[in-house]
Amino acid sequence: MRIIEDPAELASPTLRDCGFVPTMGALHDGHGALVRAAASDGGPVVVSIFVNPTQFGPREDYARYPRTLEEDCRLLTKAGATAVFVPSVEAVYPRGLEAARAESAAMLLPPVATEPRLEDASRPGHFGGVALVVARLFELVLPQRAYFGEKDYQQLRLIEEMVSADSARFGELSIVRCETVRQDDGLAMSSRNRYLTQSERGAAVALSRALRLARGAQTVAHAEQAMLTTLERAGVQIEYAVVRDAETLLPVVDSERPARALIAGKLGETRLIDNCALERHR
Ligand code: PAF
Repeated sequence: MRIIEDPAELASPTLRDCGFVPTMGALHDGHGALVRAAASDGGPVVVSIFVNPTQFGPREDYARYPRTLEEDCRLLTKAGATAVFVPSVEAVYPRGLEAARAESAAMLLPPVATEPRLEDASRPGHFGGVALVVARLFELVLPQRAYFGEKDYQQLRLIEEMVSADSARFGELSIVRCETVRQDDGLAMSSRNRYLTQSERGAAVALSRALRLARGAQTVAHAEQAMLTTLERAGVQIEYAVVRDAETLLPVVDSERPARALIAGKLGETRLIDNCALERHR
């Protein structure tokens, strides 16, 4: 596997029409699954590792975000990546970080990233930074397909909308959704799980348990109540635990449309999110 720091090297004909997996490193098997999916679709697979400063709020974990490049490279080689792109902040944001922060604050985002009052309310400014860096990475890597996990469901919807709204900029790029990968007890894999203490790790299973109860509930109200009770009992400081329209992420108005249960909360200092599709119409 090649390690690429200079964006100019991405122009190599051996990386043309690649499948692309953007990451912030601290990789786990959820990322491994994205790379394996890209590899099985054929062609070269490029993975980026870039801890993007513009998507972290001032009181968030940018400085302490885990950086584990050696281990990451081992996982990527095994999963079948062709190249890993590890750009500097200057390579991604040549006009400087201050200009990038201003640009990210001014990003025009689709309603799915600004109206639901989910991650957009909990992490103001976050999606501007995500949209900015993902668009920039797409321009540098020029992939044919890009792979995103469903665990960050609102992020996934933002990127789907951003790409489909601007074919002049993103061309034929297709966004491929990949299912959340879970630990044996149901906890969704996340780079932030490594922050959890042993007792928080035990309590964290409440998120997937809450989603399971939501899936079995007959109505939106029952699903939301079941999630709140389960999370509260486990000591999760709940930010939201809701059922929403799976496409708009707004409150459900048409019970015939697919719905999604979404949770965010904190255990100690660690913020966790999870979500699942709800099969039943209610
Ligand atoms: O999901 C992530 O890891 C990040 O938000 C992404 C998409 C790599 C952008 O920095």
